[in-house]
Amino acid sequence: MSAIIKKVFAREVLDSRGNPTVECEVHTDSTFGKFIVPSGASTGQFEAVELRDGDPKRFHGKGVLKAVSNVNEIISQKIVGMDVTDQEGIDKVLIELDGTPNKGKLGANAILSVSAASARAAAKVKGQHLFEYLGNSKRLPTPLLNVINGGKHAGGKLAIQEFMIVPKGFETFREALRASSEVYHSLKKYLKTKYGSSSINVGDEGGFAPQIDFAKDALSALTEAINNAGYEVGEHFFFAIDSAASEFYENGKYFVDEKYMDADELLNYYLELIDDFPALISIEDPFDENDFEAFSKMVKKVGSTKAIVGDDLTVTNVERIQKAIDMQSMNYLLLKINQIGTLTEAKNAFNLTKSQNWGVVISHRSGETEDPFIADLSVGWGAERIKTGAPARTERVAKYNQLLRIEELLGEEAKYYNQ
Ligand code: PGA
Ligand code: ZN
Repeated sequence: MSAIIKKVFAREVLDSRGNPTVECEVHTDSTFGKFIVPSGASTGQFEAVELRDGDPKRFHGKGVLKAVSNVNEIISQKIVGMDVTDQEGIDKVLIELDGTPNKGKLGANAILSVSAASARAAAKVKGQHLFEYLGNSKRLPTPLLNVINGGKHAGGKLAIQEFMIVPKGFETFREALRASSEVYHSLKKYLKTKYGSSSINVGDEGGFAPQIDFAKDALSALTEAINNAGYEVGEHFFFAIDSAASEFYENGKYFVDEKYMDADELLNYYLELIDDFPALISIEDPFDENDFEAFSKMVKKVGSTKAIVGDDLTVTNVERIQKAIDMQSMNYLLLKINQIGTLTEAKNAFNLTKSQNWGVVISHRSGETEDPFIADLSVGWGAERIKTGAPARTERVAKYNQLLRIEELLGEEAKYYNQ
């Protein structure tokens, strides 16, 4: 089967929030691969640029026709004729063609669409499943399921953006997902009884967006839901949060749980939360994305037992990850391929993180699509964890369902991380 790229083209489609995004197809003579780019809401300041048209007459300025035409008119000319299995070569051309440090010229959305669609096409050319093509690992990641949505992903008062359940005490991914779905439904029942029926409306990532004001009440609700479903906190399920703290930071102060705090006060706030909920094992972006120092203090205090995760802090960018290494600001990387724009650069970010024996969470965006690419990526690369929302809403469930298929395909060889 020929591996030569014959055609590359993109189109504008919609994401899970109903905003336009880029879908790309990369064709060889006999097959093709496609990819749809996701989009964040609480985006990091240092992420690669998501190119939007800014034309108020279309999609309130959010159209992506420029990014689409960058694929169709500019990128395709250089990529057609290349070997689709030469991922590094393709990504190098994409990076050079853009020529800016943040992919501001062609757009990271245009570039990633081609990079990831090429991998899909290449897997088909080689007759492999995508996860097999991407890497050798056969481990199923532990999911962090975001079942209560706050911050920018919901319309309530919770400052902390994500409250996640982590099913660690299970033998297989399938069992872990089943139990998580049970907890999700028992949470729905609990929230409805305690906070009223408007509390079971869902946010951007499929989690509930209840009328809860304080983080500890959200974690208490998760505790109740886990118990009501017949499971034990600290045995079957643990907790994770994503503060996305840059979103509630202004002029040196964080506004959380109806209080203004400086970084030291916020650190104490987290320490108390951990004291009250020892099963809280992972805290993402606890401080502003520029405050590597505050992250370091947190690692010194709790880094030996808790995952301190960099998302907006490091934006899947090796320079920022290196700074986090130099300052010991985290011990886990959140990896989002559209924060950096090519698979090769995302892999470099992964490898640099692994050189520290740190863990990696491969993550979706709050604006997602039906594309399950990151499920394959998390298995192929062997990421310990995956963050892909609640076990509800098709754009989230698409990834979980793909992980179920992969586990089945791997059969005896499959191993559930339980990390
Ligand atoms: P985003 O949120 O996709 O809106 O940036 C996800 C996250 O912060 O992890
Ligand atoms: Zn985050």
